[in-house]
Amino acid sequence: MLHFILLISLYGCVSCDTTYQVKVEGNWDGRFQGRLSIPITETTNGWEVILTFSEPISKMDEWMGDVIATSTDNKVYTIVNKPHNGIMHAGDKLDIQMFVNYPGSVPPTGTAVFKNLGTDTFTPAPAPTDNDGTKYNLNEVLEKSILFYEAQRSGKLPDDNRVPWRGDSALNDQGQNGEDLTGGWYDAGDHIKFNFPMAYSVTALAWGLLEFKDAYNDAGELDHMYDSIKWPLDYLLKCHVAPNELYVQVGEGGKDHSYWGRPEDMTMDRPAYKIDESHPGSDMAAEQAAAFAASYLVFHTKNATYADELLSHAKQIFAFAEAHPGKYSDSVNAAAGFYRSNDETDEMCWGGAWMYLATKDPHYLEVAEKFYVPGAGWGQSWDEKNTGCMILLYKVTHKDIYKTDIEATFQDWMPGGSIPYTPGGLAYRLQWGSNRYAANMAQMAIMASMQGLHVDEYRNWAESQINFILGDSGRSYVVGFGTNPPTQPHHRGASCPMSPAPCGSFQMSENSPNPHILYGAVVGGPSENGQYTDRRTDYVHNEVACDYNAGFQSAVAGIKALYMRGEMPTA
Ligand SMILES: *[C@@H]1O[C@H](CO)[C@@H](O)[C@H](O)[C@H]1NC(C)=O
Repeated sequence: MLHFILLISLYGCVSCDTTYQVKVEGNWDGRFQGRLSIPITETTNGWEVILTFSEPISKMDEWMGDVIATSTDNKVYTIVNKPHNGIMHAGDKLDIQMFVNYPGSVPPTGTAVFKNLGTDTFTPAPAPTDNDGTKYNLNEVLEKSILFYEAQRSGKLPDDNRVPWRGDSALNDQGQNGEDLTGGWYDAGDHIKFNFPMAYSVTALAWGLLEFKDAYNDAGELDHMYDSIKWPLDYLLKCHVAPNELYVQVGEGGKDHSYWGRPEDMTMDRPAYKIDESHPGSDMAAEQAAAFAASYLVFHTKNATYADELLSHAKQIFAFAEAHPGKYSDSVNAAAGFYRSNDETDEMCWGGAWMYLATKDPHYLEVAEKFYVPGAGWGQSWDEKNTGCMILLYKVTHKDIYKTDIEATFQDWMPGGSIPYTPGGLAYRLQWGSNRYAANMAQMAIMASMQGLHVDEYRNWAESQINFILGDSGRSYVVGFGTNPPTQPHHRGASCPMSPAPCGSFQMSENSPNPHILYGAVVGGPSENGQYTDRRTDYVHNEVACDYNAGFQSAVAGIKALYMRGEMPTA
């Protein structure tokens, strides 16, 4: 019953209640020619026509769609669009011509119902009002960002899945010896599981949860947040198949990217790639150890058994990283074209620091300090963790070198430094995913401020960057949030109409909103000159990714927590 109600509420059924009659245009003995004319009143990205005859018929020929179901009494025919004619706009007309064979000489009447399979009316539960003094409702932002990660889930979805247009997918993901590698998050608008950015996203999110649990709790999102990061953690645990053997990717770029469709419908080969002693990847291994160690700290009050499991894997994986240095993308060619690692020293530093925080074993602090590269940080990202590491090392040691480097980093990033700003005020590091670099540094600025450094300055700057993304430039860069949000994020699943309507590259190039709102996803962002166009084809500015939301979400939690604690400077 629940399922039935859910389905009804999923369709934007403007024309659902209207029935259309088949008009008979010619009649011979036992065969008539008919026409069904349906005016289109809203954009469709796929459609279904349920045609019911008053008497059983023996045959129907039509050319507009495909008959996907026939009732056992031969009265009801379900027709779904073909790939080329699913997209229609208000003012268009769907004209279905048919030839129908029937018993007797008087044609049966035909009545049709039209369903738009391309308008999804799913809306998340309303978030509680935010009374902490923040400019935007950060409860809603946290709720929706977590929902974005839920939409990225691969594998067998649990019963409490909240994203109604998502289902089970990639259930055959497995290692080279048949190991179960189902689960995890799809990386971006595609369906590859890239563990390097996935693990980084988990570390960044876990850090935010660790420092700002009160914000998640106040937003009513704490349980969702634990579930959110447990999903990729469970997958990353599966990927650690032996002490010195770690799967790092499932899916192959060429095969994956030539497919535009729903993850639930994928049939391409999805090879799995691993690192081991003779194919090292200390960057990947140290990042995964960081994710597990930070998550150990998050989970040890929630479920000590699970936390201990994470930490014992973290110790093995970090030992593997120490003993077998090398860049994972040199060992795994399939990753090099997408997430090529620049070096492995920053992950050894960052991973070592997280291992020290989780274990208090001085060995890990020694490793972290040994791999630290002095100087201002480039930024913070899936590939670059020096900034994060200097903040962690300052937190632990209070040494001047880390403080000096943190200050030098933010001197570069704040107005007047070497990082340019867009006209709207976004600190602009790179073209590809500009919002994400600013949001990551907003998280870093808040974390540095938690160590007593330039408290007001860093917090105000972090808030300015997050507020830019939430709408300060007059538009929101978060899908399904705020004023004029992006409607065409470059995302396969969200761009597809409801099954069984076909999906394909025609859907990618269509200039109209995605049928499904990918709530909470931060899109790439503007160019240096501030230009941004909400087009699905523009993957540089309008793609989404797990790592784009990670620093962002943690910064949002931080800002909310600081308001709640009365520790946000008032301008
Ligand atoms: C705690 O974690 C363990 C190990 O993953 C799991 O088997 C158990 O069900 C969890 N307990 C609770 C209460 O969630």
